[in-house]
Amino acid sequence: MGERRKLIAGNWKMNGLHADGVALAAGIAEKLKAAGVVSFDLLICPPATLIWPVSAVVKGCGVAVGGQDCHPKTSGAHTGDISPSMLVDAGCSYVIVGHSERRQDHKEPDALIAAKAAAAHAAGLTAIICVGETLAQREAGQAGAVVASQLSGSIPAGSTAANTVVAYEPVWAIGTGRNATPADVAEIHAAIRADLIKRIPGGSCVRILYGGSVKQSNAGDLMAVPDVDGALVGGASLKVDDFWGIAASCC
Ligand code: 13P
Repeated sequence: MGERRKLIAGNWKMNGLHADGVALAAGIAEKLKAAGVVSFDLLICPPATLIWPVSAVVKGCGVAVGGQDCHPKTSGAHTGDISPSMLVDAGCSYVIVGHSERRQDHKEPDALIAAKAAAAHAAGLTAIICVGETLAQREAGQAGAVVASQLSGSIPAGSTAANTVVAYEPVWAIGTGRNATPADVAEIHAAIRADLIKRIPGGSCVRILYGGSVKQSNAGDLMAVPDVDGALVGGASLKVDDFWGIAASCC
């Protein structure tokens, strides 16, 4: 089994104007430069308007850039959408698909998410495919079944350990300050790993991230859970010290 380097990914969501985004990206790049060799990978996913300037700022620094969503088509009459090849053109190597905010706010079904991930793969991007149950589903004892069904519907044929990352983000833990416990995370991540081993060639090498109220104070415990291969961080990715603290505490 190949080693899975931890991936610490910042999802800036709909936050940041040009000056803020450039300063944040430059601050993260500085931290990485000052640290020298590190044992984790860093990724930042700015809003679409900031992908070009942020990519320019971190170019050559070892900080990867990702989009927060993409359209399944390469080009065409899709007002407001961004294609995977446009993300590549702007400097991205990753794209998040199926984030719960898109599943909920934009009613995105699994089949659309699978199509987006397949398009991302075709363009050469690594797709971060997000899954996670709501509070009502967890309280009804359905967390495992919901995640299994999302994995089955959202991971396209052609997925590999090189082009796919899975992020487990329980909806009730996102932006609430209430993270899942290491025991909750261990149970779901083990089930995701077992599923990926069956579903994807090299499934034991696919990185599985945890997301939902990750901060410096809980990152060490969460990142120590078996089959947790990094974090997808929202709020705490908007400050250099908080984001860097999370990355540093997982090693
Ligand atoms: P928070 O870290 O703000 O809870 O957000 C998590 C998330 O949705 C990352 O994609």
